[in-house]
Amino acid sequence: MFKFNFITDNDDKEKPKNDVTETKAEPKSVSKHDECHEIFPSKKQAECDYFAPNLVRTLKCITFPKHNVYHVPIEDIISKLVNEFDDIGCAEQNHSDLIAGIYEGGAKVWECTETVGDYLTRPDGTQCLIDQFEDSTVLDLGCGAGILGILVLQAGATVHFQDYNKTVLEHITIPNVLVNTKSIEKLKERCRFYSGDWSNYTENTEDGKKFDFILTSETIYNAANYEKLINVIKTKLKPDGACYLAAKLHYFGVGGSLREFEQTLLKTDIFKSETVFTCNDNIAREILKITFK
Ligand SMILES: C[S@@+](CC[C@H](N)C(=O)[O-])C[C@H]1O[C@@H](n2cnc3c(N)ncnc32)[C@H](O)[C@@H]1O
Repeated sequence: MFKFNFITDNDDKEKPKNDVTETKAEPKSVSKHDECHEIFPSKKQAECDYFAPNLVRTLKCITFPKHNVYHVPIEDIISKLVNEFDDIGCAEQNHSDLIAGIYEGGAKVWECTETVGDYLTRPDGTQCLIDQFEDSTVLDLGCGAGILGILVLQAGATVHFQDYNKTVLEHITIPNVLVNTKSIEKLKERCRFYSGDWSNYTENTEDGKKFDFILTSETIYNAANYEKLINVIKTKLKPDGACYLAAKLHYFGVGGSLREFEQTLLKTDIFKSETVFTCNDNIAREILKITFK
C-alpha cells in the first residue's frame, strides 16, 4: 500500500509499465504551490516565440478526427526552465514524474488525455460527443498541457484550465492555448487559468460558477487527494452537468486505483458513475461519466 511521503517496502520491486516514478517530498505544512492564483496571460506570452517561422515548425500536433491540437515542444521548454523553477527543476533533477506537494506531473501529455480526445471526437453516425460542447462551459481539471481544454475550445466551449503548478500554466498550458487560438483576444474572451491545490481552488473561487462539463485525465493517482478532487466536482459541476474522468486502473508505485476512487465517490451518495469507455490494450484504462443522482 502506498504511504504518502514515506518509502514503502515495495519500492525496490520491479514495476509494471504504467508505473509512475514519484519522488517522496518531505511533509510540508503548507506548500507555496498549494495557493490558488488566477494566472493572467501576459503580453510577452502573446508575442509567443512559436509564431516565428523558424519555431512554428517545432510545434507538435495531436490529431483527433476533425481536430488538430498543437502544442509547444514540452521537453525543450522544460530543459530551459529547470534552473529557474524549483517545481519542474526538482522533478527533472530526480528524474521523477511527480513530487507530491511540489510538482504534480502536468508538464507532460499523459496517455488518458488521448483516450478522452479519441472518445469525444469519434464519429457516431452523423454526430460525435464533442458536438455537445458547443456554447458550453468546461473545467479542464488538472489540465497539465491543456490538450482536452483546447480540444473543446475548438468545439466552441468556454474553458477554465486548472493545474497545480503555476510554472506549467505559464510556460506550457497558456502557450499551447495561444498556438491554437493564434490570438490573445480570443484566448482572453474564452479562457481562464488557475493554479494551486484543489482544496484552495474550491475555496478561493467561491463565486458560484458552475460548469456544464468537467474533464479530468490521470488525476486519481494519489488516494490522499480523492476527497478534495470529489469536492471540486461536487462544487463546480452544474446539477445536470457531466464529468468525464479518465484514468488507468492502477497507478503502481503511487498506489491510486480507479475502483478505489469510484468507491470513495459513490460513498458520498450524491453521484452516479458509469464506465463509458474501456481499453485493455497495453495499459488498462477507463473513462467514467460522473453525474449527480
Ligand atoms: C498526471 S498529470 C495529468 C495531466 C493531464 N491531465 C494529462 O492527462 O496529460 C496530473 C495533473 O493533476 C494535477 N493535480 C494533481 N494533484 C493536484 C492537486 N492536489 N491539486 C491540483 N491539481 C492537481 C497536476 O497539476 C497535473 O496536471
